[in-house]
Amino acid sequence: MRGLVLSGGKGSRLRPLTYTGAKQLVPIANRPILFYAIENLVEAGVREIAIVVSPETGDQVRAAAGDGSGFGASITYVDQPEPRGIADGIRLARGAMGDGPFVTFLGDNFLTDGIVSYVRAFGASGADAGVLLKQVEDAREFGVAAFEGERLARVVEKPQDPPTDLAVIGIYLFTPRVFDAIAAIKPSARGELEITDTIQWLIDAGADVRADIVAGEWIDTGKHDDLLAANRLILERLPHDVSAGTIDDASKTHGRIVLQRGAEIINSVISGPSIIGEGTRGVNSYVGPFTSIGPGCRIADSEIAGSVVMEQTVIEGLGHRIDHSLIGRNVDLRASDRKPSGYQVVLGDYSKLRVP
Ligand code: DAU
Repeated sequence: MRGLVLSGGKGSRLRPLTYTGAKQLVPIANRPILFYAIENLVEAGVREIAIVVSPETGDQVRAAAGDGSGFGASITYVDQPEPRGIADGIRLARGAMGDGPFVTFLGDNFLTDGIVSYVRAFGASGADAGVLLKQVEDAREFGVAAFEGERLARVVEKPQDPPTDLAVIGIYLFTPRVFDAIAAIKPSARGELEITDTIQWLIDAGADVRADIVAGEWIDTGKHDDLLAANRLILERLPHDVSAGTIDDASKTHGRIVLQRGAEIINSVISGPSIIGEGTRGVNSYVGPFTSIGPGCRIADSEIAGSVVMEQTVIEGLGHRIDHSLIGRNVDLRASDRKPSGYQVVLGDYSKLRVP
């Protein structure tokens, strides 16, 4: 079976990070979200993978995932000139998917327990399509499934009044019959070819559409809180390994910690689970649980917990602990004793700052 990962789109809910980078490349535990999707596919025996990319961030995605050899896969790329919907991305990938069944994985979806059993069951079932479902607290944010008896009868995109609490998650199993559906549907009110309309068309055409409820955790990492939640889930699973970095005698560590190559901890306290990136220095600081600090950062005379910090960022001398935060690349956060005292900020569009 082949695989298709969607890594285009606008990422508007993750602004400002997505002004300069693809949302699928935002790191959780110091690896792009997208990599977890690719690994889920490879683990399920899917080794021929195409990635749909946008003109804005396609080069970054290509540079990050490469030809797939790092994952034991072969990766090719499909350009989507405009974000005209998930089904539009699938339509454009037709040539890359060949004549057999394929798995489509939205590049911002994150699963803790992978897709092995669902891919296997779909392959054995002879069904025309398959969706995966997960119970959620607020189904209004997702495609939602409704049943008639055992049979999947309806899928509705972000309904105001959801018929069930079963979200259709961003992993779909298709046969080439999906291309007939996409050719037949019309763009929605928001101008997109919707994946939910595609699946509904298949159901209405009498196709056999399977639905399985996934085990484990599922997160659509489209928003800040969800990204931090995915970061926590991955950190909880990382084995302790500080062998690639150094910790001086004045420092203390608690719990499971990963130090990546050349990371240095000096006169600091690090509480796991947390990961400190390649070449990053933590000096006279506290790094609390569920924190990922990217490569090339400097954390000095500061406290941070429950956060994701991307590469080459400096945090120095802050008087209050940073908590539950998402900090981008090359950010510079420092105390200043210049008078008059006051916050001095350069914040890009859609930035957020909460101060005590
Ligand atoms: O996460 C599951 C949900 O994903 C489903 O429950 C919904 O039915 C489905 O429509 C989708 O909703 P989102 O609003 O989360 O979709 P989003 O626009 O965030 O796009 C999902 C992924 O697909 C994201 O990685 C970007 C990519 N994408 C999206 C569009 C619209 C593309 O590659 N091209 C596109 O044109």
